[in-house]
Amino acid sequence: MRRPFVAGNWKMNLNRAQAVELAAGLAAKAGDYGHVEIGVCPPSIYLEAVRQALGSSSIGLGAQNCHQEVPKKAFTGEVSPAMLVDIGCKYVILGHSERRHTFQESSQDVNQKLLAALAIGLTPIVCVGELLEERKAGKTKAVVQEQFDGSLAGLTADQVGKIVIAYEPVWAIGTGVVATPEQAEEVHADLRRLLESRYNPAVAASVRIQYGGSVTAENAKTLLSQPNIDGALVGGAALKVDSFLGILAAAKK
Ligand code: 13P
Repeated sequence: MRRPFVAGNWKMNLNRAQAVELAAGLAAKAGDYGHVEIGVCPPSIYLEAVRQALGSSSIGLGAQNCHQEVPKKAFTGEVSPAMLVDIGCKYVILGHSERRHTFQESSQDVNQKLLAALAIGLTPIVCVGELLEERKAGKTKAVVQEQFDGSLAGLTADQVGKIVIAYEPVWAIGTGVVATPEQAEEVHADLRRLLESRYNPAVAASVRIQYGGSVTAENAKTLLSQPNIDGALVGGAALKVDSFLGILAAAKK
């Protein structure tokens, strides 16, 4: 019922030639994965080159962040949601843990960016996830709920129906320590219950919740077979054609 969605977050990796090569390699194979929705999120400076390399393939283009102001303004160094649409983006990742923790973005910041992205028709991929010490202290559910409520504040059910949520436990990101399918499913089920209690059953049934954090072609199948895991947000394993295709194959099943 929910279309599986796998997106690659390339973070601050690759150079221009490598980004184009990866995009072209994926574009050539994207047709083999039928109903799986596929996205790639290169560094913003390579969005245009990657868009061209994706050609007419079904792979959607996404950005890794945006500013919260839609119209042009004097904000040196920032990229607006309108610019992302202009360059052909469909998605924007918001509230990634690296932005929350390294760049001190609050859920309130994420909320403003989310509203701006939705207003211009982007599909936001909103990330939530706990630190290791928060998990150890038994605070996972509370932390995720707080990030969910803060990031989605003021959205209508209709707006929430247009977003994608990514659960990315911070301790699993780039560490090789993947959450067990049970650990991930527990949080995904909590998130779905939150969608139902804060909005309505239709929204809860339709919003895709991706898992992210050390996803590989090898572990993707068991993760993606969990009832509330609807796809993956992939970092390291999205940087090579074969490993990303392996994850797409797992999502197809
Ligand atoms: P890794 O897949 O490299 O752990 O990164 C996950 C991530 O942060 C995706 O947004």
